[in-house]
Amino acid sequence: MKGVLICGGTGSRLRPLTNVFNKSLLPVYHRPLILYPLEIMQKAGIKQVIVITGTEHIDQITRFLGSGSRYGCRCTYRVQEDPKGIAQALGMAEEFAAGDSVCAILGDNVFFDDLSPSIKSFQNGGHVFLKEVPDPKRFGVVEVDGTLVKSVEEKPLQPKSNLAQTGCYLYDNRCFDVIKNLKPSPRGELEITDVTRWYLDQKELGYTVLNDEWVDAGTFESLFKASALVRNKEKLIVDEVKNEALKQLTMNN
Ligand code: G1P
Repeated sequence: MKGVLICGGTGSRLRPLTNVFNKSLLPVYHRPLILYPLEIMQKAGIKQVIVITGTEHIDQITRFLGSGSRYGCRCTYRVQEDPKGIAQALGMAEEFAAGDSVCAILGDNVFFDDLSPSIKSFQNGGHVFLKEVPDPKRFGVVEVDGTLVKSVEEKPLQPKSNLAQTGCYLYDNRCFDVIKNLKPSPRGELEITDVTRWYLDQKELGYTVLNDEWVDAGTFESLFKASALVRNKEKLIVDEVKNEALKQLTMNN
């Protein structure tokens, strides 16, 4: 399986923070946003990653990630010159994927669940990661019934469920043919939700519902929330280590 890290978009909702920097290089507590989706790939054992981003930010991202060796992977880059959606960006990874399946993650998504069991066990078809949210209209919305996915809709006015399709997608190599046949949506983009729907129509779409937090860090509020959540998690780890050290010390005395 190959990794596709999609860092497109102008980050318009985060201006002026994104006037100079790509959204995925903004800080989430102690690390740039992009390292969170990259870490998911790393944990799942994905070694080859292609980063797709717009013309104006490719140099910053390349400078930051470099060859990828510091992060346990080999990074390749492609420029999405005329951004027309997440599916268009994914389509640019066809040659790189070279027949393999792909794990595509959006560069502004921060996950707190461990996604590696689902990624590692993926074989074919499509697989999405869902999260219950209070405001589903902002996202791709998935309706499920038991193990069956019933519908997938991009930003519906009347959502059929409150399960959002998060920004991590597992697809087998057929996704590239699907993308070639997509028509732009009313917002003029090739929608990733239409790729997911194709797998649903083939009855080959699986899903995992996330239990922990998930943040699409594209707004001031959500970027701040991601930082606060990471800070809490880091603090818990530090406290645990400190407590353990203290316990050892008292036991030894
Ligand atoms: C995109 C997808 C949407 C998904 C969301 C997750 O939305 O189109 O289906 O729920 O990412 O972050 P966008 O960021 O383009 O509004």
